[in-house]
Parts: sequence; C-alpha cells; structure tokens
Amino acid sequence: MNRLTDTFSMANGLGIPCIGYGTWQTPDGETAVNSVKCALENGYRHIDTAAGYANEGSVGEAVRLSGVKREEIFITTKHWVTERGYEKTIAACEESLRQLGMDYLDLYLIHWPMVEKRGENWREVNADTWRGFEKLYKDGKVKSIGVSNFLPNQLEALKLTAEIMPHVNQIEFHPGYTQPELVNYCKAHNILVEAWSPLGCGKVLGDPTVNAIAEAHGKTAAHVCIRYALQHDVLPLPKSVTPSRIADNTNVFDFELTADEMKTLDSMPRTGFSGFYAEAAPADAIAFGE
Ligand code: A2P
Repeated sequence: MNRLTDTFSMANGLGIPCIGYGTWQTPDGETAVNSVKCALENGYRHIDTAAGYANEGSVGEAVRLSGVKREEIFITTKHWVTERGYEKTIAACEESLRQLGMDYLDLYLIHWPMVEKRGENWREVNADTWRGFEKLYKDGKVKSIGVSNFLPNQLEALKLTAEIMPHVNQIEFHPGYTQPELVNYCKAHNILVEAWSPLGCGKVLGDPTVNAIAEAHGKTAAHVCIRYALQHDVLPLPKSVTPSRIADNTNVFDFELTADEMKTLDSMPRTGFSGFYAEAAPADAIAFGE
C-alpha cells in the first residue's frame, strides 16, 4: 500500500481503499459535515458510518458538498441492532440510503451479532438478518456485505445457512488489543478484517512502547498504530474531527515497521480496550455507543 486510494481486495473481487475515515462518536451536524468534508479534501476516499452513529445525514451532505463524485468514494454504513430480521433489514437499508441521500452503498455491515446469552434463537435471528443482506446484495443496493464484531462462533453459525459469506468483519483492533484468533479465523475464511478504533480511541497514543517505536522512525504514535494495522493486512478506520490530525493520519506511507517492532506491538499487554464486545452487548443496545 502506497497511497490512500490503494485497495485491499474482498472475496467478491471488489477493491476497498486501504484507509477509511471513521465517524464513530462524531457528532451529527456541523462537526460531522466539516470533518468528513475535510477528510475528502485530504484524499480519503473511504468513509465509514453507521445508523447507530446517528450521523449518516451529515456524511451524505459532506459528500455532496465535497464535489467528489459519489462513485469515487467508498461508503460503508451499518445496520443497527433494533432492525434485525429479514424485512426490517431491507427497510433499514432503505432508511440509511435515504439518510445518506444515496442510491447504493459500497458496503453494508451487521453492526452487532445477536448473541447466545440474549436468546436461544440467536442463530436464526442472525441468519434471517443475513438473508436480508444477501437480498440487498443480489439486488445491487449494496456492492459488498459484511459484519462487525462477530466472533468465530457467530461466523461459524452464519456459515450453516449463508449463500455468501461476509466479505468483511469490522472489529476492535489496535496495539494492545488484537484478537489474534479472530483475525486468523477471518483470514482463513477470506474475510477482510477492518479495524475500528485503530488508535484505541486515542488511549494507545500515550503508550511508551508505541512511542519508542514512533520515535525511532521520526513518526507519531498514531502513524505507528495505523501502519501496524496495514502491515497486518487489516484495514484501519482512524477517526478524528481535528483537521490537522485528519490530514496527518494519512502520512503513513513513508516508513515501515520492522518484523521485530511488529512482534513487540503484537505482544503488548492489554491497552486501550474499549470494553465493547459481542457478548457484552446489552439486550436493547439502544444506548450502546459502538
Ligand atoms: P479528535 O477526534 O478529537 O481529533 P480511534 O480512531 O482509535 O477511535 O481514535 C479516535 C480518537 O483519537 C479521537 O479522540 C481523536 O481525537 C484521537 N486522534 C485521532 N488522530 C489523532 C492523532 N493523530 N493524534 C492524537 N489524537 C488523535
């Protein structure tokens, strides 16, 4: 990867720009419009939003204001937990498209799996939702489909009924929280891994190990975290609403972490974990941030 527009490939053969601009916790309205527009002005061509972030309208507005053609931008949004099931999934996608003011998505993700401790029928609920995703994919409403925060057991269950396996699994991934078994499972099943909070929500940026490596390259801790994901073939989605950081987070193509540095980062103790994971999702998950 040498530039923002270089792509990872998904199992359906489509490319996805190698760094996405994340919008989790970006307030709707002026902040979201200005920061997404700033990202597009700085060369990002991949924007990641979600119905659950409540900022899809602003993302759509920023895309239109940017003057960059829709087809030159890769847009991901996610299906919220209240909309599970076949019919509701189709309607939820339509609503996201309406909010975005777009007529197709590049990638649509199930934001959180239904999990065993929330109901014995968790497999059926996920399977039914996924059937909706497959329909949207076949109808061309969404060019690629995937999941977020799914663990291997939930992917194994999905496999029993899926015609198409997810193209992507978006998970928390950063130095200090790397979920290696899950990443290996996804790689073995040709599922592209995306990293939400690749900077550990900013909490990894003060870590001495990360900073020592950054210093050795004359780079910042944020650069090291973004590079770390890329060198693991994991697609990072750094978030910032600060124009200088939005721009600076793209300066990651002029250095490489050594194999030893990667190993050091791989073996860091748990640092910056958000506390969010599939089995911890509350029942209604309405107030559940990510
Ligand atoms: P802000 O949005 O105020 O600029 P993550 O992508 O892991 O979720 O991390 C996002 C957090 O990291 C946000 O709080 C963001 O702050 C902060 N952040 C993003 N880029 C940088 C950077 N280059 N340097 C310092 N903090 C950053």
